[in-house]
Amino acid sequence: MAANDQPSEIGLIGLAVMGQNLALNIADHGFRISVYNRTTEKMEAFVDSHPDTPGGLVGCATLEALVASLKRPRKLIVMVKAGSGTDAVIEQLAPLLDEGDILIDGGNSKWTDTIAREQRLAERGLRFIGSGISGGEEGARFGPSLMPGGQEDAWKALEPVWTAIAAKVDPDTGKPLLGAKPGKPIEGGEPCTAYIGPDGAGHYVKMMHNGIEYGDMQMICEAYDLMQRLAGMRPAEIGQTFARWNEGVLDSYLVEITADVLQQTDPVTGEPFVDVVLDAAGQKGTGKWTSINALDMGVPAPTIAEAVFARCISAFKEERVEATKILAGPDSDPESDPAREQVAEEEREALLEAIHDALYCAKICSYAQGFQLMRAAQAEYGWTLDFGEIAGIWRGGCIIRADFLQKITEAYRYEPELANLLLAPHFKEAIDRAQPHWRKVVALAAQQGVPAPTFAASLAYYDSYRSARLPQNLLQAQRDYFGAHTYERVDQPRGRFFHIDWPDPERPQREA
Ligand code: 6PG
Repeated sequence: MAANDQPSEIGLIGLAVMGQNLALNIADHGFRISVYNRTTEKMEAFVDSHPDTPGGLVGCATLEALVASLKRPRKLIVMVKAGSGTDAVIEQLAPLLDEGDILIDGGNSKWTDTIAREQRLAERGLRFIGSGISGGEEGARFGPSLMPGGQEDAWKALEPVWTAIAAKVDPDTGKPLLGAKPGKPIEGGEPCTAYIGPDGAGHYVKMMHNGIEYGDMQMICEAYDLMQRLAGMRPAEIGQTFARWNEGVLDSYLVEITADVLQQTDPVTGEPFVDVVLDAAGQKGTGKWTSINALDMGVPAPTIAEAVFARCISAFKEERVEATKILAGPDSDPESDPAREQVAEEEREALLEAIHDALYCAKICSYAQGFQLMRAAQAEYGWTLDFGEIAGIWRGGCIIRADFLQKITEAYRYEPELANLLLAPHFKEAIDRAQPHWRKVVALAAQQGVPAPTFAASLAYYDSYRSARLPQNLLQAQRDYFGAHTYERVDQPRGRFFHIDWPDPERPQREA
């Protein structure tokens, strides 16, 4: 034991910013925590610079020392780069552990990797929790949203720590309780963590959080673009608009930070900061995984997928610059830039209201898709997910935290088997009220040649979902024509398939 007399409650491996902040959060709640980093100097500097945490940090120079410093059953949080980094640490650690010890992967791991890891470790008598952790650096330090999945008894052992360090919300309003400081965490409130389900359920739900995050971010970007290109607004003005919107139904962390970002000046040029940032987005993969999973399960998530594709096309910067010189839009004069032409005050106010409503409607559709995906996943992977609880633990701490999630929590608490969020009375009424504006904005964007992929994809999703009859009757007939893929008939029970022998002039029908 590293020069300490009492064993630590928990250990942590990987002292990058997220690992450091999580360790400090745990120590702030009175838990003694042992920490290890591959580079010993980094661990020592970290421990030395935080000598007086309520629980105490115990620095360990080797994995053996780390393991020896822990209470049994041992609980060890792995905070390293997802993927091969996580596997490498697990492989080093597993031989040092005893039956019943618990490894907790707090990275953005793919849920299928978590399922495989849990199985492999179970064969060696070890328990495994894959826990989504959301909230970035600040969240890790003062209260993240935590989405743990794995064996339930392992969760029970971890629960006191996870419950203590998670973000807290007011149990009545669902609003995050803020104001935590080093050494002074929030007391009371409802914790933004709950057991999600077995094996990969926690990481799956974290992935869905990120898919939804991609949708939210892209929708906000589209609203910003429409404001600048259709209403001729400058970034700071748009920022003020977002700040105003943050007082209403769109109240959320992402809208709040957007307001800040847009009002920021570039320290180098004095220009609006956002104007000097290159429009080529990066991504680490969680939105892509969500979209691939939607395609794999055959569940529509077009808003989330469009948000991923929007990042992809943005990254084709040089190609887009060339294409601008060749491809025409509705404005026939390629030299004239319709962007940022001021419009009359009254027209602008009407436009802003419409964009606000379009953003809100598109957001409802995006969340509806995310929850439908989770609904399908529980059948696919044998989980029982509590959607009210999932929305509940997203109300605070995480990147998508928003007032809106209180309404989703209420919708699923009222009707746990809700087929689609669009059918919940609160959201149905919201869309009933706002959809004329939503349609106007999507039409206007198309007319003016402003890309609004998630606004439009959400609208198509909404209109498809509410259509009792879609044109896929024709599609089925086409498939039967060229590939004898068969079709069902409107006048026969579902599940009976027919085929027409198309080349035959008489075209007799037979049941397949
Ligand atoms: C969170 C964030 C976090 C991270 C994303 C960013 O919940 O705290 O989602 O996990 O910021 O992975 O993802 P991209 O780099 O793909 O945008």
